[in-house]
Amino acid sequence: ALTAAEIAAAVALVKSHPTFTEATRFAYIGLAEPSKAQVRAWSPGQSFARRVRLMLVSGPEADVVEVVASLATGELSVTPVLGVRPGLLFEESYAAIVAVQENAQWQEAMRKRGIEDLETVQIDPWPAGSFGVSHEEGRRICRCLFYVRHTPEDNGYAHPIEGVVAFVDMARGEVLEIMDTGVVPIPTECANYYPESVSLRDDLKPVEITQPEGPSFSVEGNLVHWQKWSLRVSMDSVEGLVLHDIGYEDQGRVRPILFRASVTEMVVPYGDPGPMHGWKNAFDAGEWGLGRMANSLALGCDCLGVIHYFDAVFSSERGHPYVVQNAICMHEEDYGILWKHNDPRSGRNEVRRSRRLVVSSIATVGNYDYGFFWYFYLDGTIQFEVKLTGILSTMAVAAGEQPEFASMVAPQLGAPFHQHLFNVRLDADVDGPSNSVYEVNTHPVPPGPDNPWSNAFAPVTTLLETETAARRVMNPATSRCWKIVNPRSENRLGIPVAYKLVPGSTPTLLANPDSSVAKRAGFATRNLWVTPYAPDERRAAGDYPNQHAGGDGLPRWTAADRSIVERDIVLWYTFGLTHVPRPEDWPVMPVEYAGFMLVPHGFFDRNPALDVPPPPGAPCHTE
Ligand code: CU
Repeated sequence: ALTAAEIAAAVALVKSHPTFTEATRFAYIGLAEPSKAQVRAWSPGQSFARRVRLMLVSGPEADVVEVVASLATGELSVTPVLGVRPGLLFEESYAAIVAVQENAQWQEAMRKRGIEDLETVQIDPWPAGSFGVSHEEGRRICRCLFYVRHTPEDNGYAHPIEGVVAFVDMARGEVLEIMDTGVVPIPTECANYYPESVSLRDDLKPVEITQPEGPSFSVEGNLVHWQKWSLRVSMDSVEGLVLHDIGYEDQGRVRPILFRASVTEMVVPYGDPGPMHGWKNAFDAGEWGLGRMANSLALGCDCLGVIHYFDAVFSSERGHPYVVQNAICMHEEDYGILWKHNDPRSGRNEVRRSRRLVVSSIATVGNYDYGFFWYFYLDGTIQFEVKLTGILSTMAVAAGEQPEFASMVAPQLGAPFHQHLFNVRLDADVDGPSNSVYEVNTHPVPPGPDNPWSNAFAPVTTLLETETAARRVMNPATSRCWKIVNPRSENRLGIPVAYKLVPGSTPTLLANPDSSVAKRAGFATRNLWVTPYAPDERRAAGDYPNQHAGGDGLPRWTAADRSIVERDIVLWYTFGLTHVPRPEDWPVMPVEYAGFMLVPHGFFDRNPALDVPPPPGAPCHTE
């Protein structure tokens, strides 16, 4: 991870370069990560050439300057990129809010709806998308949506102001258009979830997690050891939580599994075709930043048990480093039983407790909150889970009407149908960098002389040879999964070792292929993509999804149809959920889960958790 001193050093280098002016803002600062070969050649104590990636905007145009700063030599490589936008800047979001508040036409639209005190209006800037409207061209714009708060702490999403959208040039602080499609009465019922707003149940007895001898993990900087696992933890301002160099110790050596793992992009497309909601397609990584939006986590609330926190270091848009305390939470959890057998003949009963290491962070992006949870299990399994919670994006519905593309969640309050689709980039390193991917489908065998009872079925394993062949969707009917295989490393049965990517129940994008969002979020049209590793292929929708016309990222790269056999490969897995809101999601949504597993499949010679001892002091085994 970059340190505050490294961020300051990179900023100082940029500020001494002629490309820097008073108007320059730092839209992104992150580590320019070293290659796998460099990392593998390194040993502790050696110096390492550190490089920093920066994205600058130098004025209100839709242009970016990319910089790579070499801290050791002070060299800068400076590349202007025209016609692209970084994620929305906080400073400009604030400027957009102020511009709207001062706009007479907007004030009139509010008064027309009976709002006298304009201070009670909550203004939410949204990424504007790309729809070929004239406002978009050459500008960094947002669209603003409006809600009323009866009190400063009121849940504004209970009182959406339907019919009004502001288009704002956020870089110039200039309102371009106030769209008003007509008045719909503002829902009046308050929906607050603070303890003082609710009659609390009083029969929950305390649960306390104690680990009297401390946790079983050790931490050295950002390097974590837990049981046989080792990994490094960092935070990127766009991707949020990033894990590096994940390995598992087996017979005295650490065997690599993943070189890098993170959510590089996500999209929340809305399914209501109306003028208020049809353009809503939030790319919460590339347009806002899952790291920039990370919470400081609180003990006993966000995480329970004996916790280790990691802080995250980011830069402000003016180039000042700052720290988000407790941005990453790590702890151990009991997870029920790991394995068990009760042998009725011998009378011996053996049970082992499952335990997992949890590494998590939580990003709040506008109304929604996303928890990103990586789990490591004693048996070599890795799991990733997103916990979706927070508040629905809402709409006002006229009394007596039933919306076609939204659920009613409270009187005169609807919540449009939408999806949450995440793409995880998995830089594979299963027993080394040379990996292949196989698709596995389990099929019944037709009846015949070799299948006299018509019961036979077997997995059919197909090598995915090129990038276009590896654009895949899941199929529960065949228990479809994908194996990351190292053909040069065999287990004791002579079978190449593998990790299996096991999909959960997951949709792909429902918007039509002709739609703007299908072009911009091409990654979401398939569950699986595989690419040969390339250092500049970082994010599933490209580096600049904000207001992008589409086509960048995975669809573009994989059109080259490169070979992915026995290479350093990257898997890009899309998963998520289609959210048809329910009244129980209101006023704050109980966590919904989406994710996948990476399970060893012949990576080990036998159950790698055979050596987990019975819990001391409990009758979990009999002799
Ligand atoms: Cu949702």
